Amino acid sequence: MADIGLVGLGVMGANLALNMAEKGYSVAVHNRTVEKIDAFIANAGSLAERLTPCRTLAALAEAVDPPRPIVIMVKAGQAVDAQANALADHLARGDILIDAGNANFRDTRRRVHVFGERNLDFLGVGVSGGEEGARHGPSIMAGGDRKAWARVESIFADIAARFGNEPCAALVGPEGAGHFVKTIHNGIEYADMQMIAEIYGIMRDGLGLAPDEMAGIFAGWNEGPLKSYLIEITAEVLGTTDPKTGKPLVEVILDSAGQKGTGRWSVIEAQDLGAPATVIEAAVAARNLSSRKAERIADEKLFGAAPRKLDGAFGNRNSATIVLEEAMLAGKIAAYAQGFAVMAKASEEFAWDLPLGTVAKIWRAGCIIRSTFLDDIATTYEKGSAVRNLMVTEPFTGMLKATHGSLRRVVAEASLKGIPVPALASALAYFDFSRTARSTADLTQAQRDFFGAHGFERVDEPGKVAHGPWSNA
Ligand code: 6PG
Repeated sequence: MADIGLVGLGVMGANLALNMAEKGYSVAVHNRTVEKIDAFIANAGSLAERLTPCRTLAALAEAVDPPRPIVIMVKAGQAVDAQANALADHLARGDILIDAGNANFRDTRRRVHVFGERNLDFLGVGVSGGEEGARHGPSIMAGGDRKAWARVESIFADIAARFGNEPCAALVGPEGAGHFVKTIHNGIEYADMQMIAEIYGIMRDGLGLAPDEMAGIFAGWNEGPLKSYLIEITAEVLGTTDPKTGKPLVEVILDSAGQKGTGRWSVIEAQDLGAPATVIEAAVAARNLSSRKAERIADEKLFGAAPRKLDGAFGNRNSATIVLEEAMLAGKIAAYAQGFAVMAKASEEFAWDLPLGTVAKIWRAGCIIRSTFLDDIATTYEKGSAVRNLMVTEPFTGMLKATHGSLRRVVAEASLKGIPVPALASALAYFDFSRTARSTADLTQAQRDFFGAHGFERVDEPGKVAHGPWSNA
């Protein structure tokens, strides 16, 4: 009998099934459009012998060894409910439904309870690493019941990426905790990508560098503290030529970015939790603005294009490269500090006890934001000290002290010349706000009291509600 079942043979599902088969597991597979099943098996080569094609959900349930773990890999949303409900009719007490898509964690929480009432376990498992990761080693963030996870842990550990000897797969908490962590992973991914794009904009429009020159700079950064998958692929993308036109490929790509929802969800949850994720917010907004291409063209005509040329603002090419690298590093520290703070707040709010050190560890390989920086974060948590915010924890405090001046220069110069840098600017504002002992909220409080009698606290009478002697009172 099969060790595990899998429903949904899209690219991610198919690759996960092949990954499991390659690691020696027998997998029963099903797809709603049944023709896809045959095509999948036909293309599986020698792995086909470990794959059992099942034309119906009933056949799939029969093929898997009970208690049956069944992975659902379909489009997030309605399709998950439809598939899980249809499957549940063929399952028995103790069987485990595993949603490995990018679900909203609120849906996962609901599903855990709905299927729990039917005596089925429901695991919400975030899988990162794209198609390649799914096939050869993703990062896996699971949420749900401990016993259910124990039943499938070895399978997921075996198919996951490894950092050294450690598999990048873990149960991070109950209910929707896994999908929450995956959502924040994606939010951080948006922030990283947007900051890289802003630096690219400065290099292209401010410094007039050609794509292959930029490719060289990013490749150089990939040897230092910014070493990461996203910097590595940026270098590769910028060095790629369009076979059709012979131009740098990036120049023939429409500058309008899509999004499927996880970035937006991170921001919504961060707002709900009162844990600012301003860099991610800026990144989500930047994608929205990017997609308004026609409006941007019209507005550039209306206001005129910004000057953009930075005219040696950062000195020669070498010093500019250093300033930009440091700015990116400072921005990254702020963005990750925010992402981890959102998870810490969620952990408190939902009583999840999220192991943030483990989260950092399983993000060190396999996932889209994998980097040496995450290894530094993992080490920080491993030291055992309570982390209030990564910015105020070594080695990040030292790194920020050394680099925030460059972030400031980059944001200032870009702003003076009209190059939009919303994510970097948000990172800088977050840093500056965080180290401002006396904020301007005294005035805000006064205004709130003036128009709404909301009350304020006097510095000389702590804990008491005071009101002002306003003219309108
Ligand atoms: C990953 C990716 C993956 C995907 C998202 C984001 O961790 O493997 O984050 O989940 O790229 O769907 O996509 P959008 O940019 O379309 O929101």
